[in-house]
Amino acid sequence: MNEQNELFFKFDQPLSVDDIAAYLSITDKKQIGFVQQKAEQILLKECGNKVYFRALVEASNICRSDCYYCGIRKFNKSVDRYQMEPEVIVGLAKQARDLNYASFVIQAGERQDAGFIDYIENVLCSIKEQTRCDKLPDGLGITLSVGEQTKETYQRFFNAGAHRYLLRVETTSPHLFSKLHPPEQTLESRINCLKLLRDVGFQVGTGVMIGLPGQKTEDLANDILFFQDLDIDMIGMGPFIPDPIAQGVGGMEEGVECPSPETRVRWTLLMTALTRIVLKDVNIAATTALQAIDPQAREQALRFGANVMMPLLTPQSVRKNYNLYPKKSMRDEASISFHKELEKRIHEQGREIGYGAWGDSLHACKRNKT
Ligand code: 5AD
Repeated sequence: MNEQNELFFKFDQPLSVDDIAAYLSITDKKQIGFVQQKAEQILLKECGNKVYFRALVEASNICRSDCYYCGIRKFNKSVDRYQMEPEVIVGLAKQARDLNYASFVIQAGERQDAGFIDYIENVLCSIKEQTRCDKLPDGLGITLSVGEQTKETYQRFFNAGAHRYLLRVETTSPHLFSKLHPPEQTLESRINCLKLLRDVGFQVGTGVMIGLPGQKTEDLANDILFFQDLDIDMIGMGPFIPDPIAQGVGGMEEGVECPSPETRVRWTLLMTALTRIVLKDVNIAATTALQAIDPQAREQALRFGANVMMPLLTPQSVRKNYNLYPKKSMRDEASISFHKELEKRIHEQGREIGYGAWGDSLHACKRNKT
């Protein structure tokens, strides 16, 4: 048995940073298959074979943040800014419910002004009120993702009906974080928000970008251990997609390239598998950014331990203005034909779709004893 094979037998012990970094570094197909099988085995044992859908709507691209990698950063003046009317979002929520998706995600650029907070609160209340039915007495389950806010604001959003919140930390390396963001955006503040969200009672999701310029497998291994330390319930991770327009001005390290697209996809799949192996009963999304590099990779992530998918319901008319990164999918993922195709491919992998259920993170349910 060579040294690499020996590594594989440590899955049932707590993994160290070095172990995780070593698994992330493998390139051999057979060895990747070994990690994939272990992740799939843990997923099926801990969470079952259901894939949960969350319909995703990008409610507004108006953003006061200036993250150097992001296509809708404040600095980018070539984007037409929009804010969807509440009635339109509620209409999409009803459409999601009629497709039997019991969960909805509202994502938007980050703003802290009173008008925005009222808008989100109003949208949450309206969706809750208008999606209740016999099959879903509590309406759609709602996940919110509108960035860093005060505890009071998080509390208002929770009271208005959102019960899950996604706030990616992007990277837990202080050095990389500071390369990606202007000085007023800090890693400490991001982590503090994750703690506030937990205090308020949300199921808390976070995640990172994979394959950033200068990012090492040790950095990614530390990201996984951070998820564990913070007792995170949901994870969304995707490959970094360089965006020359977004990066036009800002502090991203000049001359440092990100890894090749193949490496970024391989790392993302391995990160998904290793997060499943370490965290066990959390929800992990197969994210859209994977598709921007490889059309098959989003579904492949389901084989590597992911159990959540987020079909994009944002109307075509505004979708082109929510390009967080280049080559974002323009497909109408709410169409019946897309839905049937996705359903077929998921069934082909021996998985079922968790229709009609919120599909909460079992990790959160166990902690909250619900
Ligand atoms: N590449 C990959 N992911 C990106 N995001 C934003 N810009 C990019 C990019 N260039 C992700 C961030 C953010 C989420 C909404 O989109 O992780 O949290």
